[in-house]
Amino acid sequence: MDQEKDKYREILCIGAGYVGGPTMAAIADKCPGYNVTVADIDEKRIAAWNSDTLPIYEPGLDAIVKKTRGHNLFFTTDIPAAIKKCGIIFVSVNTPTKTFGDGAGKAADLQYWEKTARAIIEYADDDKIVVEKSTLPVRAAEAMSRILQSNTKGLNFEVLSNPEFMAEGSAVSDLENPDRVLVGAMQTRSGIEAQKKIVAIYANWVPKKKILSTNVWSSELSKLVANAMLAQRISSINSISAICEKTDADVNEVSKAVGMDNRIGPKFLKAGVGFGGSCFKKDILNLVYLCDHYGLDEVARYWEQVVLLNDYQNRRFVKNIILNMFNTVAGKKIALFGFAFKADTGDTRESPAIYIGKMLLEERAELNIFDPKALENAKKELKDTEGKIEYFEDPYECAENTHAIALLTDWKEFADYDYKRIFDSMAKPAFIFDGRNMLDHKKLFKIGFNVFPVGSEPMKHL
Ligand code: NAD
Ligand code: UGA
Repeated sequence: MDQEKDKYREILCIGAGYVGGPTMAAIADKCPGYNVTVADIDEKRIAAWNSDTLPIYEPGLDAIVKKTRGHNLFFTTDIPAAIKKCGIIFVSVNTPTKTFGDGAGKAADLQYWEKTARAIIEYADDDKIVVEKSTLPVRAAEAMSRILQSNTKGLNFEVLSNPEFMAEGSAVSDLENPDRVLVGAMQTRSGIEAQKKIVAIYANWVPKKKILSTNVWSSELSKLVANAMLAQRISSINSISAICEKTDADVNEVSKAVGMDNRIGPKFLKAGVGFGGSCFKKDILNLVYLCDHYGLDEVARYWEQVVLLNDYQNRRFVKNIILNMFNTVAGKKIALFGFAFKADTGDTRESPAIYIGKMLLEERAELNIFDPKALENAKKELKDTEGKIEYFEDPYECAENTHAIALLTDWKEFADYDYKRIFDSMAKPAFIFDGRNMLDHKKLFKIGFNVFPVGSEPMKHL
């Protein structure tokens, strides 16, 4: 019995990525009574987790990893041994959009996720609780259960859903103080028993009223819906930014006025170049695919529009640059300030900067790129892209001799630069396209810049 109890104090997470690493570090930090092992097939990534230079940049993460690593937090590539030892297995592998076959471009690619199920069957020699941490389509737990129950060792696997709601750049504080934790389980006796064990982990630091126990399908669907609704707000305000530009209304004023309605609220109403990140687009497309699968055409088209509007916002930003730089950017140098999909992360997955950068290159512009944390990932994203691209460690050098700056990421430090110095070093007339509406536009205009915000009147000397 004690052995049985101990095994549920051994937690494994398969997948040491942006979610697996931080979530497990937070659990290790908050639950000294548990041992947490994070395993991955990627040897380089695991080596980085075990080094002084973690594989991802996330404020506050270094401190909690340093504190727990080697005590009750371990990173390994020995997946078989970790599966054997642990009673609770979180699965946090990537679930990207499928790029091939049926459902290509919409459905989730579940091959990595299924491989973990097969590894669990192969190496487990006692019962386990398997927890979906990855974002998955509704009813994925059913498929996972079927695969696991096909084992010939007579083992029982309870499959739960515990989706992650943290955002990059604020992962540590989101994990330490979540709005809610969702634990979905099959409504059977053993399912509910397993659910209690997962709830008990979070109860070490999350107030009980913030831990929601639901059925497994509601849990899976809630994750997709939360992301779809957050992205929908951004697409909504971005659509309004286009109307503002035609009518001299100011999208920041509209956003503030609308967001002050208590029922609407102020968050996720910041207009810009469009949302990026590895999940919003993929999760909405996943929802669209599910709706199509169930014959819900109107519902599918409704959500699809959130993604289409986001693509439109990327294109609109580029068109605006071209139009205002005398209808051509060919041969002109444009400095991209920021390549990460948002501030405080080095992650560039689905970053608007990729699409905007590529469109500008197609127009034969030359790109100078600066980002405080995402330069290496930017290089990978644009590796096979034709055109003239240079990367800079210093923003002032990046802007030198360029015709325009396109600000694409909301890094706070961008607001603090010496723009007089930058202006003096640029080709004239100098343009600044503030894709995040975060600079002091009046000040820039006074310095001599032609300033183009998103969703409000430009300030031009021309
Ligand atoms: P990621 O690509 O950073 O990490 C996934 C890791 O899984 C990789 O290191 C990969 O090597 C590993 N992996 C793949 N197959 C494996 C296998 N068979 N065995 C062992 N390891 C394997 O992805 P991520 O950003 O951490 O996202 C993981 C999941 O979490 C996705 O479903 C995503 O939608 C969801 N999610 C992500 C975020 C986020 O902010 N990134 C937030 C909430 C939810
Ligand atoms: C998002 C969700 O916020 C998390 O709850 C979720 O767990 C995660 O997706 C996921 O499932 O991966 P993340 O993508 O890390 O988190 O970052 P967000 O802060 O949501 O930003 C997403 C994108 O929207 C960024 O490009 C950001 O710049 C943009 N954004 C955000 C806006 O353009 N306007 C806003 O008002 C807010």
